[in-house]
Amino acid sequence: MIFVTGGAGFIGANFVIDWLATEGSPVINFDKLTYAGNLGNLAGLNGDARHLFVRGDINDRSQVAALFEQHRPTAIVHFAAESHVDRSIHGPGEFVQTNVVGTFSLLEEARAYWSRLSGTDRENFRFLHVSTDEVYGSLGQDDPAFTETTPYAPNSPYAASKAASDHLVRAYHHTYGLPVITTNCSNNYGPLQFPEKLIPLMILNALQGKPLPVYGDGLNVRDWLYVGDHCAAIRRALHKGRAGETYNIGGNSEKTNLEVINTLCAILDELRQESAPHARLISFVKDRPGHDRRYAINAAKMKSELGWTPSEQFASGLRKTVRWYLAHMDWVTTIQSGEYRNWMAINYAQR
Ligand code: NAD
Ligand code: TYD
Repeated sequence: MIFVTGGAGFIGANFVIDWLATEGSPVINFDKLTYAGNLGNLAGLNGDARHLFVRGDINDRSQVAALFEQHRPTAIVHFAAESHVDRSIHGPGEFVQTNVVGTFSLLEEARAYWSRLSGTDRENFRFLHVSTDEVYGSLGQDDPAFTETTPYAPNSPYAASKAASDHLVRAYHHTYGLPVITTNCSNNYGPLQFPEKLIPLMILNALQGKPLPVYGDGLNVRDWLYVGDHCAAIRRALHKGRAGETYNIGGNSEKTNLEVINTLCAILDELRQESAPHARLISFVKDRPGHDRRYAINAAKMKSELGWTPSEQFASGLRKTVRWYLAHMDWVTTIQSGEYRNWMAINYAQR
């Protein structure tokens, strides 16, 4: 049995579904169900006895400890986090509470549990911490991509809170010997992504005939990875990764925001001809404060040590993603009825 935190969010839910389909061993899915967590993401697992969902906060140490004792996980895969840069600008406190203090709490309980294991259970145990490339800061246009030895230089409260959690994870290996692995991944996209992030936001606004808000000049670059490729990389790191190591995961797919949005518009023009051209909705708005210019990942270590490379091309992955949203408008309607509305009012009112 593995213990997954944040498995009702975007990547966590994709991971749990993918894990049960490929590995098949049971999962305890521990999630607080914040605005970003949604049990509808896991509806396909209803009735599957291998999936046990427990609502809770990683800061609740007694609940976490009791679950470890009861279920004896062989690994912890830690996704739970506040994950949206724009929200971290409006309200950084929650990011420190969950990403830093929450990861510390989870590490403490993992250490207590692991230190009581013996033999192969102790040797094979892993704490896999899912992190981001944003901890490395921003690249200039011609800088080489981030490697695992690039110095940390986080620029947003989100990135700083993830950097702090990465440092704690590292220290728990160095000081206590806890067998940790940290993965630093680039921007993900795909099914189940909460529509406040760039790609789903643009798809849904375009479908609803709303403006497509491009921050600044739209030339910021991100290295996009299809979420299924990220899930496969995490499974690989869990099985083959060396304790104490960090691994960079990326899509070899650097695009400016405008390239992404124009590609989405072209796909929608084909699939929804009646409202074409969708690019007419592009609207330049006030930039995000401290907006990182470029991220790019060098994933050579994942390839040479663990034999992982991404399998999805950006164009085909984006098409799949658009089709997924078109086929799941009921999911979208539910999401857009709640906290999402408040957020849209807060974030876009002043732009
Ligand atoms: P998300 O915001 O969609 O999901 C986060 C999940 O964590 C939600 O289900 C939420 O309910 C849960 N959660 C939040 N606080 C919690 C708490 N205190 N206790 C228990 N559960 C809690 O995020 P995501 O995009 O799926 O990202 C998952 C992880 O991957 C994060 O750690 C993020 O930093 C990392 N990451 C994300 C990306 C990306 O592009 N989305 C890229 C690289 C790394
Ligand atoms: P986002 O999905 O928030 O991811 P991150 O900031 O973690 O990379 O944003 C991706 C890029 O898209 C980023 O450069 C900011 C930009 N962006 C916009 O231009 N408009 C928007 O409405 C949003 C949400 C993002």
